[in-house]
Amino acid sequence: MPRARRSTRSSRPSRQRISYHQSLTDFRKLIAGALAIFALTACRPPLPPSKPLSELTPQEAAGHQVYAAHCARCHYANSDRSLHGPGLQALYKQKYLPSGAPANDDRVTAVILHGRNMMPAFGNNIDEQQLDDLLAYLHTL
Ligand code: HEC
Repeated sequence: MPRARRSTRSSRPSRQRISYHQSLTDFRKLIAGALAIFALTACRPPLPPSKPLSELTPQEAAGHQVYAAHCARCHYANSDRSLHGPGLQALYKQKYLPSGAPANDDRVTAVILHGRNMMPAFGNNIDEQQLDDLLAYLHTL
C-alpha cells in the first residue's frame, strides 16, 4: 500500500504537466472560438452606449423630435447598421463619419443642409433652431 501511494505521488508531477498542457490547449480553443464568434457577429468592438432618452435635456429632446420627423425613416439611432443610410449611433464618438469625413458639426451640418448622394437636402425643411437641436441630439448617440 505505501509503495503504491509513493508511486502515485511520483507520477503526479507529470500528470500535472499534462493537465496544464491540456488546459492551455482548451484555453487556446476558447480564445479561437471567441474570436471566430466576434469576427462573425461584429468585426469590431461594441459601440459605446447612447444617452437614454429619459435623460435628454430639453434641447436634446427637441432634437430627438426633429430626428424622428426627418431622419428616422432612413437612419437607425440605436445601431450603426444601415437602413437607407448608415446607422447614427456613436456618430460623434468615432473619429470619422461613414463616408470617411471627420465627425464634426461642420461636416454633419453640411450633410444635413445639402444632402449627400442618396440623402436628400434638408436646408429648406428645418430652421436654424431645429438644426441646433438636432445636432445636440446627435451628440447624445
Ligand atoms: C431618404 C433617406 C434619408 C433621410 C431622410 C436622411 N438621410 Fe442621412 N443619409 C442617407 C443616405 C443614403 C446616406 C449615405 C450617403 C452617402 O454617403 O452615400 C446618409 C448619410 C448620412 C450621414 C453620414 C454622412 C457621411 O459623411 O458619412 C449623416 C450624418 C446623416 N445621413 C444624417 C442624417 C440626418 C441627421 C437626417 C435627418 C435630418 C438624415 N440623415 C436624413 C439617407 C437619408
